[in-house]
Amino acid sequence: MKLADARKRAEELRREIERHDYLYYVRDAPRVSDEAYDLLFRELKELESDFPSLQTRDSPTRRVGGKALESFDTVEHLAPMLSLDSHPDDEQVRKFDERVRKGLQSGAEVAYVVEPKLDGASVELVYEDGVFVRGTTRGDGRVGEDVTENLRTIPAVPLKLRSEEREFPSAVAFRGEVIMRIGDFERLNERLVGEGREPYANPRNVAAGALRQLDPKVTAERPLDVYLYDILAGDVPGVRTQWQLLEALRGWGLRVNDLPRRVESVEEIVDYHRSMVDSRDDIGYEIDGVVIKLDDLAFRQELGVTSHHPRWAFAFKFAPRKEVTRVLGILASVGRTGAVTPVAMLRPVELGGVTVSRASLHNRDEVARKDIREGDRVRVERAGDVIPQVVERIPERGRRRKRRFSMPEGCPSCGTRLVERGPFSICPNSFECPAQLAGRLIHFASRRGLDIEGLGEEGAKLFVEKGLVRHLPDLFELRAESLVGLEGYGDKSATNLVAAIKSAARVELHRFLYALGIPEVGATVARDLALEFRTFEAVRRAGGERLQEVDGIGPKMAEQITSFFAEPHNSQVLDQLLAGGIEVMEAVEPERSEGTPTLAGKKFVFTGGMERLSRPQAKKLVEDAGGRVVSSVSKATDYVVAGDKPGSKLGRARALGVAVLDEDRFILLVEEMGAAGHGVPARE
Ligand code: IVH
Repeated sequence: MKLADARKRAEELRREIERHDYLYYVRDAPRVSDEAYDLLFRELKELESDFPSLQTRDSPTRRVGGKALESFDTVEHLAPMLSLDSHPDDEQVRKFDERVRKGLQSGAEVAYVVEPKLDGASVELVYEDGVFVRGTTRGDGRVGEDVTENLRTIPAVPLKLRSEEREFPSAVAFRGEVIMRIGDFERLNERLVGEGREPYANPRNVAAGALRQLDPKVTAERPLDVYLYDILAGDVPGVRTQWQLLEALRGWGLRVNDLPRRVESVEEIVDYHRSMVDSRDDIGYEIDGVVIKLDDLAFRQELGVTSHHPRWAFAFKFAPRKEVTRVLGILASVGRTGAVTPVAMLRPVELGGVTVSRASLHNRDEVARKDIREGDRVRVERAGDVIPQVVERIPERGRRRKRRFSMPEGCPSCGTRLVERGPFSICPNSFECPAQLAGRLIHFASRRGLDIEGLGEEGAKLFVEKGLVRHLPDLFELRAESLVGLEGYGDKSATNLVAAIKSAARVELHRFLYALGIPEVGATVARDLALEFRTFEAVRRAGGERLQEVDGIGPKMAEQITSFFAEPHNSQVLDQLLAGGIEVMEAVEPERSEGTPTLAGKKFVFTGGMERLSRPQAKKLVEDAGGRVVSSVSKATDYVVAGDKPGSKLGRARALGVAVLDEDRFILLVEEMGAAGHGVPARE
């Protein structure tokens, strides 16, 4: 390709990619599949690597994170990034409103825009001729750190402003807040704890930390988002109010929060504040108050600013979700799955409207790292719906401290010696440990397990509590006489339950495997294991390598399965179950009567979400018709079923010429193959 052609194509590609970024990240309304997007992106990357002179500052390929820095430059903001006057009482809001009205000419029509006060990291984004050229942290308000390369990795930061709706100023600086959504935050923390690393206290700390990473590739791995709410510098003709300003920001393709409202009285402000307190846990990101801003920009000029804050704005804060309290003790608590976690018992404190009296300390390493002991003063914090965290210990001079916490050697519930898995302690006595038994029983009897009708959570807890079930095999010894008289059981229900248990005792292999609650073995893996090994004994005897031959089972899962069966208590319980009540059926290929068309041997791959079917339902339909579901697309794949927002598998299917079905066609196909009526829900 000639340079001129390459340049033209690169420009086209950039425009296309920018448009899709905007639709996806700012408008939440994607138009193309991920694969189509990936194709564009890859083509552009290749062009830029073939013709390095085509690399531009605003190319979307620059988002992935460039070279690591040694340190950040400090930069002066184009205008001071002021702070806000703030208070959590409405009385102070009334006083603010009075000051505003007094400061303006009498008769001025006062209106405010109220917005959520986002709890993230404040940033300045500078655009020259519409191109993102610099981004800085707030710093001390006058100078901040140049974190341009890190900000570039955030997909919601446009590298170029849009001018379709309105001309942008040739030089302009915006102010906004970088945040991390609570769902992303929780996933990140789960991963960190799983790796034995320290979790973050709140999403703001992650966002601020990620922005100050010297290596932008690290920042690129953190799912950050941004909301813009102000112009720090730059003339915007025609914009006279905050309300119009937010509209202008949207027009330039910047991400703007959709909760602001325009109000005219303190009463409306108080109402808004209350409604935000109510929806605080549902909006998916952290806010710590509402910001009240005078709508009219000319009035703002009249009121001016102090050295610290503007006189035309006020932060009406929420009750804090951080508090200081004392650790009354540290307990080791056994969860339903046998994980033993240290829990700090706290002197009760109120955190944003919820009284908190305990907080998880996650694992042994975490307690040691934070050095939390009984009697310590600690800072606790709660973000969104997340379990409260003990953030840190507050040292107290001259106070004698208690001894360090150490994990007990035996399970606090059943005394079995705990086993250590990384920083975690596990009680391996899955079926007899009282703390695990009720939960195990519920799982065992659940719909995807033995499906014992009439045995739910309440019954399971009751039987364990009354000592009727001391270990799992006791379930099959239950007699109607001993149940009658227990809360909720009469003659009839007791007889029915005993009959249900009896008939559930002859069980399909995959259900039995699911029912055992082996770590990581859900309904899908249980089904795959059953199809592969056919008998329970074969699964039980399989070594780690043999297990990994099953699609979807990796070394970690294989290890969990083999150690589950190797544990002596578990082994004993299984022997008892098999010798006593339970009969596990051998798995067989689903039967097909002659002449019926089947999907025997056909391989299916699913990608994207479906409307009418869940993945397990769809998988069952395929298997009932004799087919198999596999995870990756190859030439041997017969069908790829592409739902909503399909992944890269669709592109691969097209490239390999594999038949692609949408959800409706897929359902038609399995219905034709004789699986009709097997759980394809009618369209709403
Ligand atoms: S306006 C001069 N609006 O709150 C006015 N600030 O305590 C500047 N903040 O550092 C602020 N959400 O980072 C404004 N909707 C919002 C905000 C917001 C969060 C932050 C901002 C500032 C801090 C002040």
